[in-house]
Amino acid sequence: MTTSLPTPAPQIITGKARLAGVLGWPVEHSRSPALHNYWLRRYGVDGAYVPLPAAPEYFVAAVLGLQAAGFRGANVTIPHKEAAYQLADVLDASARRAGAVNTLVFREDGKILGLSTDGGGFVASLEASSLPPRPQTRALLLGAGGAARSVAAALQDRGVKVAITNRTQERAEALAAALPGTDVLPWHVWEQRLGEFALLVNTTSLGMEGGPDPLFSPSLVHASDHLVVADIVYVPRVTPLLAAATGQGLRTVGGLGMLLHQARLGFREWFGVDPQVDDATRDYVLNSF
Ligand code: ATR
Repeated sequence: MTTSLPTPAPQIITGKARLAGVLGWPVEHSRSPALHNYWLRRYGVDGAYVPLPAAPEYFVAAVLGLQAAGFRGANVTIPHKEAAYQLADVLDASARRAGAVNTLVFREDGKILGLSTDGGGFVASLEASSLPPRPQTRALLLGAGGAARSVAAALQDRGVKVAITNRTQERAEALAAALPGTDVLPWHVWEQRLGEFALLVNTTSLGMEGGPDPLFSPSLVHASDHLVVADIVYVPRVTPLLAAATGQGLRTVGGLGMLLHQARLGFREWFGVDPQVDDATRDYVLNSF
């Protein structure tokens, strides 16, 4: 981690500032304000990005209020991603496939556009690590929540054959029904079947600091040498799963890249600049933790 960072330029917020933010409940742990305001300063954009704590019962009122107040749009995080999907007037293909929306864009014609950038952000982070998912290879996803569905859809769109496994089998089956072509593996057998896969992705909160099991470190003994192990958890940056994979000589991709890459599309839509995800961005966000 770099400790001496270049001093960012001061933020410009005039009467014409472009405005966006992140809607969540709670939202205080979100890294998105630090990231977007870093990019705003770096690119000299007249704008601001703010945390927007909105309880579920006020979500619709909050979105319509932001639109009425001239915001360009907002990110949407837990627990509002399905509500945002319901509320959007227009959905892009990624949102329809994910069944959720994490990015709202208030269009000039008054319509609310809903996008899902999580899965695309995950694939972009694999590509940035020079480990792009290869068509016709097999990926195994742990988990069957919203994150699993976004990642599964994005991998399938790149021609990857996706299998999922989840503690609660019915949720895995429901996800597979929503995304035809997805295989389901029972939770208790996946470690033995790992040799069949080129990519393993943890989409659960297992291994996360403060989560249900921060020490989660399944057995990787059946992995083939070419397995890539990815985690969408980014606190800690190196989860026990990633540490075990590295210890076994496997290549790994952490969750921070997905966080940074999923943010790009919204920033471009609201602020008109395509921001770079580079070491300076990574260092800045890591130091904001
Ligand atoms: P998100 O939408 O962010 O993916 P979620 O819907 O709460 O969040 O999903 C969390 C995932 O972590 C689920 O796959 C959940 O498994 P269940 O469907 O069985 O609940 C998984 N998960 C959470 N805690 C777990 C634990 N202790 N052991 C195994 N899986 C766990």
